[in-house]
Order: sequence, then structure tokens, then C-alpha cells
Amino acid sequence: MARVVLRDFNKFYGDFHAVRDLNIEIPDREFAVLVGPSGCGKTTTLRAIAGLESVSSGEIWIGDRMVNRVYPKDRNIAMVFQSYALYPHMTVYENMAFGLKLRKTPPGEIRERVNEAASILGIEELLGRKPRQLSGGQRQRVAVGRAIVRKPEVFLFDEPLSNLDAQLRVAMRAEISKLHKRLGATVIYVTHDQVEAMTMATTMFVMKDGLLQQAGHPLQIYRKPERAFVAGFIGSPAINFFPLPLEKDAGGRRFLQFPGNRIDVEQGAAEGVETVLTGLRPEDFETAASDERSLRVEAIPEVVEFLGDESYVHFTCMGRNTIAKLRSSVPAEVGKPLTLCINHSRLHFFDASTGARLELATL
Ligand SMILES: Nc1ncnc2c1ncn2[C@@H]1O[C@H](COP(=O)(O)OP(=O)(O)O)[C@@H](O)[C@H]1O
Ligand SMILES: [Mg+2]
Repeated sequence: MARVVLRDFNKFYGDFHAVRDLNIEIPDREFAVLVGPSGCGKTTTLRAIAGLESVSSGEIWIGDRMVNRVYPKDRNIAMVFQSYALYPHMTVYENMAFGLKLRKTPPGEIRERVNEAASILGIEELLGRKPRQLSGGQRQRVAVGRAIVRKPEVFLFDEPLSNLDAQLRVAMRAEISKLHKRLGATVIYVTHDQVEAMTMATTMFVMKDGLLQQAGHPLQIYRKPERAFVAGFIGSPAINFFPLPLEKDAGGRRFLQFPGNRIDVEQGAAEGVETVLTGLRPEDFETAASDERSLRVEAIPEVVEFLGDESYVHFTCMGRNTIAKLRSSVPAEVGKPLTLCINHSRLHFFDASTGARLELATL
């Protein structure tokens, strides 16, 4: 198996700079997920790794080889496309065997590999069918099977679950994770869905506008987003943001004014910052103060959504739609004031003008 490294990878389509100075290193057997909004350059990057897209500048390494000039078929990778790209006139068996035939694999070995992959994926009974006789989930499995039979060093997946319904997506998510462990291969998986990325990745790469925003373990990124964009993109419901001016009182002490609360910040920190984008995740609202410095917010619920064990309580705070995720046992009713508390340690601070995270100690 193999590690994959991109060094200063750039991709231009004419004048358009689709991917900018991308540096990523994916260790052997990792489940790496590239995640970001549509158009941020995920497919372009994946196709460049596969050799289906040229490299404008930089290097792509698979294992110990720089593959910039290596043909796709010689890269020892297999890609599963969003569209599945199955041949409609071929049976499932023929679809899975096709790539091996092209590579002149002996017929006995082809049979063995296709049967093995079919058994791993539980699609033995479907081998004689044509793609149009399959459900979306079954087609998806065939597309994965076609990749497995190749026994590649690296699997590339481009949004393989986006055509499936929500329930099947959740099931396939877990199946692909299990498959990854079973095959012991390196996987690079592309999705715009942050929940998919969070649940599947061992390393996550968050991209925006062709630029890498943050890389790391999903939990690490969730707990410590380095940019406001990442904080807003990862997490559902999304983090609540409040832009607060960094003010100075008559005594020269600096503070953020939150409705009914003053948050004093240490001297010298965030010098030159005018507005602090203050973030609080919906689950970080508390119903009782956990600390004597905790902020208190009067919330008037406008909508209460019950999800079973928890509820999303929508209210307006500083003129902004705000969501608190509370246990359903908390009596939240539309129109009935509810006191919520915020522990300082749960606040995330960003420079509103640059989006960069601020390490702002509060007093
Ligand atoms: N063949 C192409 N020619 C010109 N622009 C392209 C081409 N392919 C992709 N792009 C542009 O490059 C950007 C990144 O595309 P893509 O990698 O497909 O994004 P993603 O997969 O993250 O949605 C988009 O703005 C897209 O319009
Ligand atoms: Mg794409």
C-alpha cells in the first residue's frame, strides 16, 4: 500500500486558478477526506491524483514514485466516480471484470477476484444482472467492486454516496469504513457533506476556493477550528456567530460587550483587531451556570424542534438567528423566556476581518 503526497500542487484551467499551492500528506492506510463546498477544487485534486487531469505545477507522489508523468493505468489506483460510470450493456460480472481483462489478467484470476469482491460486498446474486436492473445502492456497490478487483494501492472516491437516499447513505458510510479496514488500503474520499467527512475520516482536509483551510483529525478540527470558515462549515446545526467590537473602557481595559454581559479580555491580546467574530456551538449553551463567570442570555424561543432526545431551540440574539441544542427534557416553549448560560471556555474567537482564529484569554 502507499502514502500519497501533494507538493505545491496548482491547477489552472486557462486563467482560472482552481487549486492553489496545495500541500497534503496522506500516510499509508489512512482514510483521508477532502471536504469543502461545491467548486472548491476537490474533484480536480482527485482527478490529478488519478492522472486524469494534468498538473499545472507541483508534484504528486504515490508511494516512492513521483507520478506527474505516469499514465493513469500505471498509477496503481482505482477511482469510484459519483456517476458510477457502469457500462449499461454489460452485466455486473462483466463490469467488474472489464478493467482486469484490459490488463490481460489470466481468466482464472479474474474469476477469483470478481467472486471475492462480490462476496465482500454481498452482491453475488447480482452478477448476471445489467446495471438498469439494479437499485442505486446496488449500482454503488458494483462501482466499488470494480475498484476492489484491481487491488489498487490507493482508492479514490468522488462523492460516491451523493445519489443515494439519506438512510442508505448512513448505511453505506459505515460499510465503506469497514471495507477500508478490511482492505488495509489508503483511501482518498471527496465529499461536500461535512457529516460524511466527520464520520469517516481519519484525516480531514477542509478546502475553500482552491485553498486548504485546515487539516487534521475530525475532532481536532471540530474543537479547534483555525478559521471562521472552518468553524461555520463543520458542525450541524452550524456554530452561532456574533460579531462583537473589541472595546476599551475609561480605565483602558479591553472587553467584548455581549448583551447583558461584559467579557473582559487580557491586555495585549488581539492587538489591532477591531471586531471579534465570537462563535458558540449550539450544543454549548447550558441551562445552568457551570462557572461563576458564565454569561447569561435571556432567550425567547421562536421555534422548538424536537428530535427525540434533544431539541433545537431557535431564538434571536443580537439580531441574529441563533440555535441552542438542548436536552428535550428542558422545558422550552415558544414565547416563554428561557435563561441560557455560556461558559467562557466554550467561546471561539476569530478576527472578523481576516477570519483567523484568535487565542483570546478572557478574564
Ligand atoms: N474542465 C474545466 N474547465 C474549467 N474550469 C473547470 C473545469 N473543471 C472544473 N473547473 C472549475 O474549477 C473549480 C473546481 O472544480 P471542482 O474540482 O470540480 O470542484 P468540487 O469538486 O470541489 O466541486 C470550479 O470552479 C469549476 O467550475
Ligand atoms: Mg466535485
